[in-house]
Amino acid sequence: MAAAIFGGMWDLLLTDANLATMRGGRYGAIERGAVGIAGGRIAYAGPAGELPDAPGRLAREVESLDGRWVTPGLIDCHTHLVYGGNRAREFEQRLQGATYEDIARAGGGIVSTVRATRDASETRLAQDAAARLRRLMDDGVTTVEIKSGYGLDTPTEIKMLRVARLLGELTGVDVRTTFLGAHALPPEYAGRADAYIDLVCGEMLPAVAAAQLADAVDVFCERIAFSPEQTARVFDRAAALGLPVKLHADQLSDSGGAALAARFHALSAEHLEFTSEEGVRAMAGAGTVAVLLPGAFYFLRETRLPPIDALRAAGVPIAVATDCNPGSSPLTSMLLALNMACTLFRLTPEEALAGATAHAAQALGLGASHGTLEVGKAADLVAWDIESPAELAYAMGANPRHATWKRGVRAP
Ligand code: NIG
Ligand code: FE
Repeated sequence: MAAAIFGGMWDLLLTDANLATMRGGRYGAIERGAVGIAGGRIAYAGPAGELPDAPGRLAREVESLDGRWVTPGLIDCHTHLVYGGNRAREFEQRLQGATYEDIARAGGGIVSTVRATRDASETRLAQDAAARLRRLMDDGVTTVEIKSGYGLDTPTEIKMLRVARLLGELTGVDVRTTFLGAHALPPEYAGRADAYIDLVCGEMLPAVAAAQLADAVDVFCERIAFSPEQTARVFDRAAALGLPVKLHADQLSDSGGAALAARFHALSAEHLEFTSEEGVRAMAGAGTVAVLLPGAFYFLRETRLPPIDALRAAGVPIAVATDCNPGSSPLTSMLLALNMACTLFRLTPEEALAGATAHAAQALGLGASHGTLEVGKAADLVAWDIESPAELAYAMGANPRHATWKRGVRAP
């Protein structure tokens, strides 16, 4: 069956492996399994005992994994990986009592990263972001989403998105870019938020779309950022340009962000600490993925939990991501994000792993090609030195990665 899809011999056959296929968002475990790879895609993922022929006759190269577990490559579906400088000083201020919102209102926060990002060269931004991306790759990330949003003017937003695309070319990681021009109000537009949204819709979005630099469009809908009405204007423009949308929704207050995202059939709504049951129902109806960001919850010492039980009950797919950014989540480990999702949000290790694979793919519109071990999907795989998949979310600071294959090729 599998051989017929690609014809001829497979390039590689991994044997003596236990598979967490993550089909349907469950472990879908297959013990004593095998994975066949041809042309960068999965040609077989199933029990070794049901392979259609002897391994040596099926593939040019056969490798035993000595009983290790294989999962889909991890997908970090929400990051702000490209930025200038850092915000360690702000971290100190918060520890002395200032809140994230206080700092933002006083002209620090996101806007201070905007200054550093405007000043940084493309090379410097790429070097710094590549170092962060290598840390994500170290613990098994093969696909990453990267948002703009620290430029807040057309040239710098474009510079960030170009750097994000370059990172994909340099590392082989699949990079999905998201335009987040409506992340904060730049100082030169103080008191003129609607005029800034005019610039986002009239100049930035068309320029970014024409240069094919964005795969999706995001907005920070929050009382310290943009209103639901301003968000809707950006989403209307994105729809007119044929770009899917995502939303930073209900992170610090309930502004009806989840329902707004659902109204625009957003791929995902993200953060969601203050989302109401009504918002959850709207997401379920629209097929919008909930992206949970436990790193930001932890780092900002938030106390209000996202509505996990309501999301589960409504059948909303839940993804987990690092939200890697200098202000609210300087986190470059997906495995630690999984641990935090379990410890802080009470996800099960199975839900957390689905959140970094099958559901993360869905949040990026890549559900048909990534995120599970299934015939025809990208051969993005990680082999782990673990005895059960729950260990991926369990251990803190450990890195049991044995090997990564990106599109069937062994990655460093
Ligand atoms: O996802 N919430 C808005 N944006 C980021 C924070 C960005 C920053 O503080 O630099 C987030 O938490
Ligand atoms: Fe974010």
